[in-house]
Amino acid sequence: MTQIRLDKYLADMQFGTRSEVKKLIRAGKVQLDGKTCKSPEQKLDPEQAQVMVEHRLVQYASYEYFMLNKPKGCVSATEDHRYPTVLDYITDHLRGDLFPVGRLDLDTEGLLLITNDGALAHELLSPAKHIAKTYEAVIDGIVTEEDVKAFAQGINIGEKKPTKPAELVVLKSNVISQIRITIYEGKFHQIKRMFEAVGKQVLELKRLSMGALKLDESLQPGEYRALTDDEITYLRERGA
Ligand code: URA
Repeated sequence: MTQIRLDKYLADMQFGTRSEVKKLIRAGKVQLDGKTCKSPEQKLDPEQAQVMVEHRLVQYASYEYFMLNKPKGCVSATEDHRYPTVLDYITDHLRGDLFPVGRLDLDTEGLLLITNDGALAHELLSPAKHIAKTYEAVIDGIVTEEDVKAFAQGINIGEKKPTKPAELVVLKSNVISQIRITIYEGKFHQIKRMFEAVGKQVLELKRLSMGALKLDESLQPGEYRALTDDEITYLRERGA
């Protein structure tokens, strides 16, 4: 494991800003492998080192991964003035640099990956990777076989190019319909705009999966859990 500075190590583990943790270290409150260390720039291997702050052992994590069943009414951002953010729901974590991988609308529910692994996030969000995202939705209007064909061909939602082919499955066709849809891109309000383009309105939207990662249906909206080692490996190896 590459070595990092003691002040970065403590800032990563939320002991304060870089300048706050420097003060803590210079004040002699930090022990590294059993000895007081007053140098913020001291390098250490985070996987091996034993660090104590005020005689309490620090638990370190390089990366954290959580799946949140995002509830309605919170924003997919790290901070916001008006609404709670998805990070407000992740109450038990070590890292201070978590962020949501992509966005769900304020009124959309379902699977959201929250991590500090920028490389994995980049892989999952890269338009070139065509990562599949599957949603279930309640639609105001009768969803028809023509809609299924139109979605498979690509829909004009007012952008330069039509949407990429999407797989639409009609679960119940009525004045209020239920559908499942898989898209391979992530344009702003994409699914709502696709249905608007065929004269229908999305009433409820819930994401079920993103690439290899599936929503754990035992999670109620607002609940989260850490990803299992298998889920992390699977996602890294076969994001799509
Ligand atoms: N499409 C939408 O319209 N909204 C979302 O939150 C996700 C996909």
